[in-house]
Amino acid sequence: MDIQVEQCNCSELTEEEKLERIAEVIEDYRHREGSLIQILHLAQGIYGYLPIHVQKFIAQRLNIPLSEVYGVVSFYSFFTTSKRGKYVIRVCLGTACYVRGGKKIVERLHEILGLDVGETTPDGKFTLEVMRCIGACSLAPAITINDTVYKQVNPDKLQQIIDLY
Ligand code: FES
Repeated sequence: MDIQVEQCNCSELTEEEKLERIAEVIEDYRHREGSLIQILHLAQGIYGYLPIHVQKFIAQRLNIPLSEVYGVVSFYSFFTTSKRGKYVIRVCLGTACYVRGGKKIVERLHEILGLDVGETTPDGKFTLEVMRCIGACSLAPAITINDTVYKQVNPDKLQQIIDLY
């Protein structure tokens, strides 16, 4: 049976409970094809990010070298090794968004929040990331804040969007 991480109120779990949950995921997925990526994806959903001790935990349980786990985590931009903020702002820098001002959005967010890409505000509220195309190219430039997609974003309107959070 697949574990429904989306329904997990994981931020309320203790460290031990999170690792137990990840151990369950590992047992469920270990014999499936491409299991490492699935396990890492679910583990990030449970833990929030993939610090080195969680990567070690997964490597030990799967009986594979830590370098293999680390290699996958560092290859995919989806994975993060540092704690994210409550709201993760992702700016699309796919081709359409890039040419229609994606970079200006990153610069404006830097001005508003004082963040470089990959950083989190000291109060843990916002994390700034970039991403590739999310399929909204005709309404570029696009950003997401957690699960909400904002299309045709005007850099001058970003403050208003941020103020909603
Ligand atoms: S390039 Fe940004 S949505 Fe496609």
